[in-house]
Amino acid sequence: MATARGLFVSFEGGEGAGKSTQIRLLAEALRAAGHTVVTTREPGGSPGAEALRHVLLSGAAEAFGVRMEALLFAAARADHLDCVIRPALARGEVVLCDRFVDSSRVYQGVTGNIEPPLMAALERVSIGGTMPDVTLVLDLPAEVGLQRARRRAGEEAEGASPDRFEKEKLEVHEKRRQGFLDIAAREPERCRVVDASLDKGRIARDILSEVQLVIARLARLGHDGGQAARP
Ligand code: TYD
Repeated sequence: MATARGLFVSFEGGEGAGKSTQIRLLAEALRAAGHTVVTTREPGGSPGAEALRHVLLSGAAEAFGVRMEALLFAAARADHLDCVIRPALARGEVVLCDRFVDSSRVYQGVTGNIEPPLMAALERVSIGGTMPDVTLVLDLPAEVGLQRARRRAGEEAEGASPDRFEKEKLEVHEKRRQGFLDIAAREPERCRVVDASLDKGRIARDILSEVQLVIARLARLGHDGGQAARP
């Protein structure tokens, strides 16, 4: 077990930043240390949210505009939290989530140009205060990430076409990179920026030590009278 209140870790970054590899390596390391780990992803992670994932990534919702997409991402997130994330945290488990609310802030808020009050309202209803204990921002120049993502798509499934969000131009990806870095600068308590161009073993070691520090901090807070209680 991580702590009595569980541990919520999200991974963020652009396409091809290596989030899934790092989630797998962190899950292995934490399980080897005796933790119960749930790995999950957004959009998706619960049956209801996976249905919305299909609608969103196929591009079926695109015709209805970015506001509709933002609402669907928020709905998927609310279901994912209710059905998977909060129950796992209540059992004291570690949740590793591939993308979370920062992806909405960046993809829908920054590059989708959705007005901040709507983004804030969606965030309030979808997450209701359940924020990650730590968010690892895997940072990479957009061009390198896109090349990696394209190579992966070509290798993994012949004829695989990029999803609706991968198709967008390089400058949009650069804006998103900056969007994640801006969030990390605004919320240094929660966010850690990781240089995703380094060797993957090195990245994995850095991430594990960051997460261990957070586990130790939460355990200390827990012993100091439960200040670490979740909303
Ligand atoms: P996915 O195939 O999971 O991509 P990746 O490997 O890059 O994580 O596709 C998820 C896509 O959905 C990705 O392009 C980012 C986008 N997205 C949003 O636009 N808003 C969100 O809130 C989330 C969670 C994802």
